Amino acid sequence: MPLFQTWLNPATAIRLLLLCVALWVTPIAVHGKESDSSTNQAKPIAPGIWRLHFGNPERFTPTFFRSADMDKVGLKKMASGQTMPVDAAKISFQVSDRGCSLQLPMTSSESIYGFGLHTELFDMTRSEHGQTGRRVSLKPSDSPENELGESHAPAPFYVSSEGYGIFVDTARFASFHTGNVAPVRKTMETTSSEAQTSTAELYRARIQRAKTMLVDVPTAKGVDVYVFAGPTMLEAVERYILFSGGGTVPPLWGLGVQYRGYTKYGAAETLALAARIRAARMPCDAWGVEPGWQSKVYSSSFVWDTNRFPDPNGFLQEMRAMQYKMNFWEHAFTHPTSPIYDELKPWSGDYLVWNGLVPDFSTTQARRIFLKQNDSALFNRKVESVKLDECDYQPESATPWSFPLAAKFPSGMDGEVMHSLFGLLYQQTMWEPYQKKNMRTWGLVRNSHALASPLPYVLYSDSYDARCYTRGLANAGFSGLLWAPEVRTAGSIADFYRRLETVIFSHDALINAWFIPNPPWDQVDRKKNEHSEFMPDRQAVADNVRQLLRLRMSFIPYFYTAFNEYHSTGKPPIRALILDWPADAKTRQIDDEFMFGDSLLVAPMFAGETNRAVYLPPGSWYDFWTHARITGENTIEVTNSVEQIPLFVKNGALLPLAEPVEFVKPDTCFDVTVNMVGERPADFTLYEDDGVSTAFARGEQNQIKLRANGDKHSAQRSGNYRGPERYKINGWKTF
Ligand code: GAL
Repeated sequence: MPLFQTWLNPATAIRLLLLCVALWVTPIAVHGKESDSSTNQAKPIAPGIWRLHFGNPERFTPTFFRSADMDKVGLKKMASGQTMPVDAAKISFQVSDRGCSLQLPMTSSESIYGFGLHTELFDMTRSEHGQTGRRVSLKPSDSPENELGESHAPAPFYVSSEGYGIFVDTARFASFHTGNVAPVRKTMETTSSEAQTSTAELYRARIQRAKTMLVDVPTAKGVDVYVFAGPTMLEAVERYILFSGGGTVPPLWGLGVQYRGYTKYGAAETLALAARIRAARMPCDAWGVEPGWQSKVYSSSFVWDTNRFPDPNGFLQEMRAMQYKMNFWEHAFTHPTSPIYDELKPWSGDYLVWNGLVPDFSTTQARRIFLKQNDSALFNRKVESVKLDECDYQPESATPWSFPLAAKFPSGMDGEVMHSLFGLLYQQTMWEPYQKKNMRTWGLVRNSHALASPLPYVLYSDSYDARCYTRGLANAGFSGLLWAPEVRTAGSIADFYRRLETVIFSHDALINAWFIPNPPWDQVDRKKNEHSEFMPDRQAVADNVRQLLRLRMSFIPYFYTAFNEYHSTGKPPIRALILDWPADAKTRQIDDEFMFGDSLLVAPMFAGETNRAVYLPPGSWYDFWTHARITGENTIEVTNSVEQIPLFVKNGALLPLAEPVEFVKPDTCFDVTVNMVGERPADFTLYEDDGVSTAFARGEQNQIKLRANGDKHSAQRSGNYRGPERYKINGWKTF
């Protein structure tokens, strides 16, 4: 038989075809993963960062799908010459049938923070018995308000009070035991010779002098571990963020207020509501259109519903005439009626969600096909941003709505790995059109993971517990994440004010009124709002809300500085107090206060409280409202009224505050008053650029150095940005 006939038999032909498909399905590794076959030697990869390689790591990990290259320039600028902060010889690694595990040394008094966005946990070594350690199970979750470690953004990165950080490069649902396990050692330590009696004593007796961090990674037969030097916790966090590619910078309008309208409204009602908000002179930059813009939801068709929105372009034009930047809701699950359904099918997982396909965003093909439809519906119409909903999971639910862990994807990923990375890959896909146009965007997302700091998306949740939302703000910075503790309805007007106050001092000032037809300041009660029964004092409430939103707007120049520093130095714009005062043991457990930028301490209050204790770290402080001076390293009682969130400014700060605008325009120039707080105020740098493009990252940026020396003040502009000026320094004021 001639050779070619043997080749062409059907079985061989199918095998050949499969091989071609396998070669064709190349998962995206945009920024590439450095391959390395070395063993558990600590290998320096950048100043202050080491990698240790254990066993045979899996292919699909967070570093494989990096969103940006490591910021080597930023890392070089940090004080170098650090020594490896963890003794590599004390890290042990084991492979078993169920996966692999690592043991890392811990000291008995060490506190651990991070692991992504957490709304329940803070110091991860604490349990109800004190610092006895706990298990943090990193699972993506749509309702993470439990103490298990579930999260909208579980990240295998932690930072220690001993001043170092650890990142375990895995997308598996790993568990971290933060000192609550006791490996049998060659020489056992005794804790106490006396008999213990109370439960607390018995639990405390488990603590050995040297503790162990056990990292339990299912399935994988190896992992890469990255170690980040301090010497402070903040420097370890900054290194992790620069390793991730640096922090994102919002467009200037992204720092304004976002209002999301009623999901049932079509174009006419949306325009009427948007006009009503303008007439009420409520500051608002971005408008969110919820699922109803599409012909089919859930799942998503990515096609306009022409009954509700007969003229999409006309609608957008009218919204733009009112100066709104637009954001559109979607989720990734692609409805059978979507024009891309058939083309997308081979590039999707083998299970449906809400009867829709789950695109494998790790493949170039799924990205291309998915974007084609999103381009035609949204991006070609110059929509400024999107909300990427429901890309999370229900790990402990008996009735999960998303794809199962057993799902398979064309790239070779299984459901577990895909669930960890789904939000990241979705964000990357939807960021692409903006990157191509050199435009900034500012979107929302409900799931993320490690190395996410370069992505211009802010996390949000439906869980709606005010205290948890505040804790989320204190926590997000440890892992380079952003968080929108959104507000919609409330139990009372006081509850509404208190929630809104936290929203104002967050990464995204978001009013997510998706299920109410009227603005919440007309009626905070959901049922009554649905029936358009307004509160008798709604005018007064609206006036107070306007004041609060204006307060947010006055902080835009200051907060923009914090984001620019996030970008170049990795310093999170919102931070738990322990990051700024690591030596002050009292800050270790404070999860209801945080720093907003460099010099403002925010201590939110909650509905029903008439007073709260506020811990002010060492130094002197000034009450933002009364300007009273307060000595730090001190706990004070505050009794701020419901419209005044407790705020404290650091002694020695220059605090630039702008005359609030209702929205940011391409040529907005902020009228800035520089407040000189206390004695010898330090310098402050304002960042100026076009506010919307990425040209700032290529040097088209000005820096305005503000300096105060006694009666002499100066504002010196330098840099290469030549567009409209963003700031006019109107005056200098002693605080
Ligand atoms: C939820 C989301 C809400 C809202 C809603 C619309 O999943 O968390 O913010 O968008 O869907 O159906």
